[in-house]
Amino acid sequence: MNKSNESRRFTVTAALPYANGPLHIGHIAGCYLPADIYVRYLRRTGADVLFICGSDEHGVPITLRAEQEGTSPREVVDRYHGILKEAFSALNISFDYYHRTSSELHHHTARDFFLQLIEKGELTVHTTEEFYDESVGRFLADRYIVGTCPTCGYENAYGDQCEKCGRSLSPAELIHPRSRLSGSIPVRRPTRHWYMDLGRHQDTWLKSWILSKTEFWKSNVLGQCLSWMGEGDNHLRPRAVTRDLDWGVPVPAHLEGSQGKVLYVWFEAPIGYISATKAFFEEVRLGHIAKPPWVSGSRWEDYWKMEGQSKLVHFIGKDNIVFHCLIFPAMLKAAGDYILPWQVPANEFLNLEGQKISTSRNYAVWVHEYLSEMPGRVDELRYVLAAGMPEQRDNNFVWKYDGTDNTTDSYQARVNKELVANLGNFINRVVMLTHKFFDAKIPDPGPNQFPERQLEVKATVHAIGEALEQFRFRDALGSLMKLSAWGNRFLQIHEPWKIIHTQNERAAAVLYEAAQLAVALGMLCEPFMPNTSEKICRMLGVQKRDWRWDTIAQHELVPPGIQIPAPAILFRKVEDHEIIPQIQKLQAMQNPDIMDKKPSSSPSPTSSGHHFISIEEFKKLRLIVARILKAERIPKADKLLKLTLDIGDDQRTVLSGIAEHYGPEEVEGRLVVLVENLAPRIMRGFESQGMILMADGPEGRPVFIEPTGPTKPGSPVS
Ligand code: MF3
Ligand code: ZN
Repeated sequence: MNKSNESRRFTVTAALPYANGPLHIGHIAGCYLPADIYVRYLRRTGADVLFICGSDEHGVPITLRAEQEGTSPREVVDRYHGILKEAFSALNISFDYYHRTSSELHHHTARDFFLQLIEKGELTVHTTEEFYDESVGRFLADRYIVGTCPTCGYENAYGDQCEKCGRSLSPAELIHPRSRLSGSIPVRRPTRHWYMDLGRHQDTWLKSWILSKTEFWKSNVLGQCLSWMGEGDNHLRPRAVTRDLDWGVPVPAHLEGSQGKVLYVWFEAPIGYISATKAFFEEVRLGHIAKPPWVSGSRWEDYWKMEGQSKLVHFIGKDNIVFHCLIFPAMLKAAGDYILPWQVPANEFLNLEGQKISTSRNYAVWVHEYLSEMPGRVDELRYVLAAGMPEQRDNNFVWKYDGTDNTTDSYQARVNKELVANLGNFINRVVMLTHKFFDAKIPDPGPNQFPERQLEVKATVHAIGEALEQFRFRDALGSLMKLSAWGNRFLQIHEPWKIIHTQNERAAAVLYEAAQLAVALGMLCEPFMPNTSEKICRMLGVQKRDWRWDTIAQHELVPPGIQIPAPAILFRKVEDHEIIPQIQKLQAMQNPDIMDKKPSSSPSPTSSGHHFISIEEFKKLRLIVARILKAERIPKADKLLKLTLDIGDDQRTVLSGIAEHYGPEEVEGRLVVLVENLAPRIMRGFESQGMILMADGPEGRPVFIEPTGPTKPGSPVS
């Protein structure tokens, strides 16, 4: 499983959540749950692992929230820091330390990091003109400016995006810009900021370092990284690492022009991982917390500096990829002597009942609400989210099982058909039979043997371990449930309840094996369902909790003669009346204007049954061969490439949502198939005149449909 000469020290981080709102299930499934499963598993393998996180307490979202609520940023972050911490602990997300970026220690750490970069000559100062509100005497961040959208005419478009039509904007593009602070018309004023030249890093090492991860990182992560590192307009540019704001880590006062400036939140927040590590060791030193047995290092440097040989793993959602794969590594490299990320297993997004989760529309399953409305069901949530984790592509969370194959991955079906009917049922049978026929004592196996039980456990221990080492959480959980199903079959085949009076010894041996298997399941499920793990072990009389992953494959996990306690319930069925209010709550939040669902008249690919079209209908489509002459990234639109196509006698512009998977240089020159007569659409301010066809490829990466013989742009496809 693990090559023994490899380092088994890990620095595991989970994205610092913004302290301006509570957590929802998308955050958990995307980032915190996989991180926790991975870490819990590593600890059991004897690895040295430090698991850190904290609240991200700076930035415009926080100051805006404070202004909306008529309170101070400090009050906002204090409140949400508490709420976040509580939600994590209720879900058993087992951080070794949960810190916060408003702490003094973080301010010092971030400030020193910034100064170190200045000392190394990594930062340069430039002056630009930015919007300024004279009536309140402040520079305005993009979100603090509203105006009329140049595309759709919406009058309250933000300086970075129009919420009505979705177009990405810069404040200068707004018609009639106004300050959100005072309503007055902002003026342009020169301001100086510190910049980091990421383009130089791209050329000297960053791109080749990313390319060195080709076999190892997930394709969704690599694709996004490479799409940011093309040539010309797509080359990485210098980025400002400071902002004109009064909430944040102040730029050190001794620097000229530091007045009114703070470090950009995306510059200092990742440094929060380092501060959290420092805070952890400081708290240990002061005796405020005990050092957990799995942390064998004694200084923060052991987990961050080259000589510590630690593997840095960042768990994040896909919207954080650029920052963790390009910018933060560039900062670490520039500061010198730091380790770089070893793996960044970013997940895709979780949708909810077919729609995007939306914080602003309150369309979400909030963790704190789930905890109070579905009490005692923490592991059920962990299970459902892990089983449907959006590892390779976006996934959908659905509450209700409608009795058809379409919703076997719903919350209700997963709990009732998998947790209750499979795992819970097996454990329950073992416990009941032990009580009923063996006086609540683990029976003596005697001379009968069933070597297949241990073999089955061994294979599963190996399979789960291997899947988790490779960040395949769904597969790992699948193996666990397969073992439990095997246990149910084992009992069904040998029917100890039938042979108890005629072949007592054999019945005892069957139940002995089943009990060993039950304990193994109890141990194996710990990374996924820690409460359940503890319950199962307790129900089978296992007291010591210091087992190691590979010892689960041992022959005997609980010896004969051990007395087991009275049976307890592991999982309860989820009834309709428990989840219908949840569904109704979501329906009340739906705003039909901005539903991203397709209109119901178009056949949906997931609806059961075929939908036929006539040849006449098919002939309405004009498909032709085209050649991609030019491909460009669109600023602030991570997914879109703007393609200029040669269609024989003319040219076309098409926007294609492939930028997360292909860089411009990978697609230029290709022959593609174009839907030529698709109604033109405005996207991100450009008119898209058609659509190119792509097939689903492995791991969610679309692949081109290309002619295999000689043909030329403009040739019809029929
Ligand atoms: N607060 C950011 C978000 O929720 C994540 C910050 S991760 C860090 O998207 F690396 F910057 F800390
Ligand atoms: Zn608009």
